[in-house]
Amino acid sequence: MKSPVRVAVTGAAGQIGYAILFRIASGEMLGKDQPVILQLLDLPQAQNAVKGVMMELQDCAFPLLAGMFTTDNPEEAFKDAQIAILIGSRPRSKGMERADLLQANAAIFTVQGAALNKVADRNVKVLVVGNPANTNAYIAMKSAPDLPAKNFTAMLRLDHNRALSQVAEKTGKAVADIENLCVWGNHSPTMYADYRFATVNGESVKDLINDQAWNADVFLPTVGKRGAAIIEARGLSSAASAANAAIDHIHDWVLGTNGKWVTMGIPSDGSYGIPEGTMFGFPVTCENGEYKLVEGLEIDEFSRERINITLQELEEEKAGVAHLL
Ligand code: NAD
Ligand code: LMR
Repeated sequence: MKSPVRVAVTGAAGQIGYAILFRIASGEMLGKDQPVILQLLDLPQAQNAVKGVMMELQDCAFPLLAGMFTTDNPEEAFKDAQIAILIGSRPRSKGMERADLLQANAAIFTVQGAALNKVADRNVKVLVVGNPANTNAYIAMKSAPDLPAKNFTAMLRLDHNRALSQVAEKTGKAVADIENLCVWGNHSPTMYADYRFATVNGESVKDLINDQAWNADVFLPTVGKRGAAIIEARGLSSAASAANAAIDHIHDWVLGTNGKWVTMGIPSDGSYGIPEGTMFGFPVTCENGEYKLVEGLEIDEFSRERINITLQELEEEKAGVAHLL
């Protein structure tokens, strides 16, 4: 039997928390042979609700759930954590942009970054889900100077999965057969979902679709504004699909992608003209618990324009939180 992995999850009483915890405990994230200890964090007023979720987790009798506790203290929640999924923060409501959450949520991530810096496992893998995810991940990374910057990531996997499904629908092909798709930039409507390199059973997706107007006028806005469309329809922000994307992100980071591209928000190493340290969505592959940037892709004029727009937005967000760092 493997020794348990300590998984910290913040916002445990929230919608995404409710959709993710049972899947982590059942082994869908780290493997069906990997026991886990859940270290749950939420606000003091949410502790009772978390206790209710823990009762339900207990009632599932998950063989892989080796322990769990809840706390409102980040330093307790992150103690020796090997995986930290930072969900806890305020979601937007109808009419708000994710950037509107910046001031409301930014302070959370200075505190949690500092707590991770102090008490987490030195190799902790951090995924920030709470919006605006890229900038919150950037804040957490900057607040944790003793941890490797590369261990801080932001969630763009939901955008990646949304793009995959849109391309599958358009081409009439199976999602599982589509490879080499990615989403560049910010988890916001400026993100640039890119199927120029994508293939399906070896065929070029771009050639199959062969419709630049569909790309610019349908695909990009559909993927970019999907979060708002869900809020409009459901009255609440996406939760099960967000939890699913977080599971995918950590699963692939830890267990590998077998050469397949996935999208992760990672601190730039300066490639593709993205300033070093910017938390940016890039195509990566994962192996042996490490992600690796897909290098050397050609950036055409349309793509450069899109990438510059999403980069500029991230630079503005960064400037907006500079006083916190
Ligand atoms: P929710 O309101 O249902 O739950 C949020 C939870 O976080 C609540 O239990 C709240 O008490 C808790 N919380 C607030 N501040 C906290 C803090 N300082 N420490 C610990 N816990 C805290 O919201 P939700 O629907 O679960 O969404 C959570 C976040 O995820 C939002 O910011 C939302 O916008 C974001 N989100 C991101 C993506 C993505 O793709 N990156 C997708 C969906 C949602
Ligand atoms: C999403 O993309 O569904 C989330 O980021 C929630 C939101 O505010 O759009």
